[in-house]
Amino acid sequence: MKILIVDDEARNLKLLEGALMPLNYDIMKAVDGQSALKLVNENNDIDLILLDIMMPGMDGFEVCKTIKSNEHTKEIPIIFLTALKDEVNEIKGLKTGALDYISKPFKLEILEARVNNQLGLKAARNEIKALNLNLENLVRERTKELMLTREATIESMGVLAEYRDRETGEHIIRTKNYIKEVALHLKSHPRFKDYLDDNTIEMLYLSAPLHDIGKVGIPDAILLKPGKLTEEEFTEMKKHTTYGRDILAASEKKLGSTSFLRYAKEIAGAHHEKWDGTGYPYGLKGEEIPISGRLMAIADVYDALSSKRPYKPPFPHEQAVQIIKKGCGTHFDPDIVNAFIELEDKFKEIAVTFADGAVNAIRR
Ligand SMILES: [Fe+2]
Repeated sequence: MKILIVDDEARNLKLLEGALMPLNYDIMKAVDGQSALKLVNENNDIDLILLDIMMPGMDGFEVCKTIKSNEHTKEIPIIFLTALKDEVNEIKGLKTGALDYISKPFKLEILEARVNNQLGLKAARNEIKALNLNLENLVRERTKELMLTREATIESMGVLAEYRDRETGEHIIRTKNYIKEVALHLKSHPRFKDYLDDNTIEMLYLSAPLHDIGKVGIPDAILLKPGKLTEEEFTEMKKHTTYGRDILAASEKKLGSTSFLRYAKEIAGAHHEKWDGTGYPYGLKGEEIPISGRLMAIADVYDALSSKRPYKPPFPHEQAVQIIKKGCGTHFDPDIVNAFIELEDKFKEIAVTFADGAVNAIRR
């Protein structure tokens, strides 16, 4: 271990060196404050400093203060060596960050014991630091793993529900990316900035795949019917919103209210509401519709328009944009439509990147 000794008297330096050398420490020496600081800055492996207080020029208090105010050197333990024997100076020294005090003339046994104590403490501190770092890395790794598992599980649940509807896994990926883009775009908008913080945007992105989870409760005869639904069948179909909301509310009850399940529940229940109050299941109007539901609505409708469905061919991007523009203020929140218009190229890019079959093609 390396010890720096700072004293303006050559005799003292020699004495200290003589006392510490047999203990197998590496010794560095400085005769004044300035050269001590230079050595401290140039050597990042100093384990302890024995520092004289009364020195010409920069005194020990000043040296100690400088070392303790530097982020890179503040952890080096310092023991003051001094002929001063009054309490005021002792307190001053300890207040500037020194850990211990040895009065001159010192007894070799005391010097040895105090040096060993401080070096032992430093080694213990280093060990704790290394352990903490390891622990932090482990927690970070596990958290990442957990989040990936959660995302994959959510996506799989969403895909399961969509599979019955002959929709694809890509629908899930596209819609969650659409909602994220719109949310990011509106992050600083006066009407949405209080709601759309980074955590909320992440939760929306993660929970969007569950918007149609309630379809698991719709009979095949209705869900898979190729033609137009009768009024009665449509009434049944609309229930996928409340089924989804109830399924997620049940999970929320079991797991405790996590923000993720709250958003998922909101989206499942509100993604078919319309700005003018003509949507379902409750006919909520304008601001009554949760923002999450309003964002999902535009993502879901753009995707339905631009993708192939059993009852329709895929519409070209431009046509899908026109239809959404027409729904501004009736189907959709006008500010969300404006964001969509500004982002339409991004939507087109996502639609192409994750076109039906694209992910499987990449995986193959
Ligand atoms: Fe839906």
